[in-house]
Amino acid sequence: MATQVSTRGKSPATPARPKRPLIPAVLLKFVMALTGAVLVLYLVVHMIGNLQIFWGPTALNGYAEWLRTLLEPVLGWEGFVWVVRVALTVSVVGHIWAATLLALRAKRARPVKYAAGNKVKGSYTARTMRWGGVIVLLFIIWHILDLTAGVVNPNGEHLKPYENITADFTPDRWYITLWYVLALVAIWFHLRHGLWSAIQTLGRSSNRREKTLKAGATVFTTVLIVGFLIVPISATFGWI
Ligand code: HEM
Repeated sequence: MATQVSTRGKSPATPARPKRPLIPAVLLKFVMALTGAVLVLYLVVHMIGNLQIFWGPTALNGYAEWLRTLLEPVLGWEGFVWVVRVALTVSVVGHIWAATLLALRAKRARPVKYAAGNKVKGSYTARTMRWGGVIVLLFIIWHILDLTAGVVNPNGEHLKPYENITADFTPDRWYITLWYVLALVAIWFHLRHGLWSAIQTLGRSSNRREKTLKAGATVFTTVLIVGFLIVPISATFGWI
């Protein structure tokens, strides 16, 4: 005899409509793009600023001091640097927050697991971005302790970036150079993928245009990372 299941007190058989999220995905993607753009802009300026090391201690140390005098009549000594620090902190937190929410939603929206072929690709990218992000974050913490606070730097003198960098990257401390190189490779992957995703989200108009933009993003990321890499490498080999 067939047993009848009571539906009293339960929702009707029609499938429940998915709840609309409080924060729309488009807003989260906008937050990702905006905060990512702030961070990339900072990196471009920071990389170009670092290259002044090749012009000697007066150029680089003078640049560090000049940054602290920017908008001094309005913001006071180092006020501009603090505005940048706040903008960077807000951007990093916003970037991680939006990325986490988007990743959780993507996971929830996919109750059925990927087919074997897609699984490898999808989870590989997600894992690379997640672990890449963690490495970048750990690097930033180390880097601030190293070259801003100076507490893990063998020289660690305030406003003496030239002396701090040349003391940091030496043949005896090859592992520090290696750590910076590995972190910069992680940043290369993270940034290139981020730019590729942004291009994919924004431009579905033409395949050829998308390919050109992606190639441009790869070249941009490579130039940026090579610009950073040449400083610790040159210091280690005594070329500065
Ligand atoms: C590998 C090459 C790099 C070198 C030689 C370098 C050098 C420096 C130096 C000397 C400072 C202290 C500046 C000052 O106090 O005026 C600094 C600060 C900083 N750097 Fe770098 N940097 C490098 C790469 C990076 C990368 C890849 C990032 C980000 C992912 C980064 C993020 C920062 C941040 C957030 C600060 C703190 C700025 C502040 O004082 O508020 N740096 N860096």
